[in-house]
Amino acid sequence: MRRIRVKTGSPYDILIAGGLLTDIPENIKVLDLARRFAVISDSNVAHLLGEDLVRLLEEAGLSAHLFTFPAGEESKNIDTVVFLARQMLQSGFDRKCAVVALGGGVTGDLAGFLASIYLRGIPYVQVPTSLLAQVDSSVGGKTGVDLPEGKNLLGTFYQPRRVYIDYGVLTTLPLEHLKNGLAEVVKYGCIWNSYLFSFLEEQAEAILAYNADDLEHLIYESCRIKAEIVSQDEKEGGLRRVLNFGHTIGHALEAAAKYKLLHGFCVSIGMVAAARISEILGIGSLGLAHRIESLLKNLGLPVRIPRSVSVADIMTYLSKDKKVWQGKLTLVLLKEIGKFVFYEDPPQETIQKVLEDLKTV
Ligand SMILES: NC(=O)c1ccc[n+]([C@@H]2O[C@H](COP(=O)([O-])OP(=O)(O)OC[C@H]3O[C@@H](n4cnc5c(N)ncnc54)[C@H](O)[C@@H]3O)[C@@H](O)[C@H]2O)c1
Ligand SMILES: [Zn+2]
Repeated sequence: MRRIRVKTGSPYDILIAGGLLTDIPENIKVLDLARRFAVISDSNVAHLLGEDLVRLLEEAGLSAHLFTFPAGEESKNIDTVVFLARQMLQSGFDRKCAVVALGGGVTGDLAGFLASIYLRGIPYVQVPTSLLAQVDSSVGGKTGVDLPEGKNLLGTFYQPRRVYIDYGVLTTLPLEHLKNGLAEVVKYGCIWNSYLFSFLEEQAEAILAYNADDLEHLIYESCRIKAEIVSQDEKEGGLRRVLNFGHTIGHALEAAAKYKLLHGFCVSIGMVAAARISEILGIGSLGLAHRIESLLKNLGLPVRIPRSVSVADIMTYLSKDKKVWQGKLTLVLLKEIGKFVFYEDPPQETIQKVLEDLKTV
């Protein structure tokens, strides 16, 4: 088993192992979090893993109950939070209980948010089951739900007590969702660790075949990087913004595509754009964008803006981006693989030109 310490205000460990799910009950007992556990899962994961986890907890002498909601981003809203909270109250869950967020990023964000406000806050642990959740969303304590006005607009910073990552559960994850998570791993390689980037280049094929050793390695490296960044900047005051590499343009593309494209796919295109901008502005070494684009393609990720999305719409969303602070847009750019810079106010024309070049004709 691998262990990573996240050194936030309230520090916690990330545990990583194949088959870890069966060890959770004994491990969680030692944490002494609660008398009862509310296992929260979406409708897919509840059947695949939730029922088993509840049974394992009960066999270990712990009281546990499964609460579910329909799978999908559409469920990540305040109504689902209220629905789950009322179910928990009706089942007699008091302050001496804890939440187990078992699922992808939607479950983690939703259940973490609920834990942060239920009876003014109860402890929770993350048990991420999608690759995106295992390498990104389960670490760092950002919780929240969407509003009709935009994604993640209601939320809290609320750190879990422990993160249990069982990469064995990825065998049932659809390939599209594996690729979705891989975009975030490429991001970590780009901003922080050229070895991770080279590893992805070498192992792309095996990774797409769900090779367990490779998945373990990339999850471990990704969590180490995210843990290091959030340990230095828990609430996104500075360094944590580096995690926005590929995301500023990616988010604008996601919105312009009316959220019909997977997040990781938009980030993939956003990273190609940011790398090209880095080169054009003379910050990035020549060939940088080409190398990133090749890796993304080999991982089955898109590198061109779909025909149905207009560059003008992306530009409009970019100007509205919440990272526009005092009228300034900050992009995370690259000098080389593994070395980033924050760049304020890149010329609009450069962004527009790069986006037009990336448009599928
Ligand atoms: N909190 C953060 O720091 C942070 C960071 C990045 C993304 N996010 C959020 O994460 C969400 C996206 O997460 P996601 O991509 O995991 O979405 P998701 O939770 O909807 O999971 C994707 C799909 O995979 C299914 N699934 C999950 N694990 C499975 C498994 N082991 N086997 C089979 N199917 C499985 C789910 O049921 C779902 O249908 C977004 O809402 C995003 O805003 C949060
Ligand atoms: Zn992301």
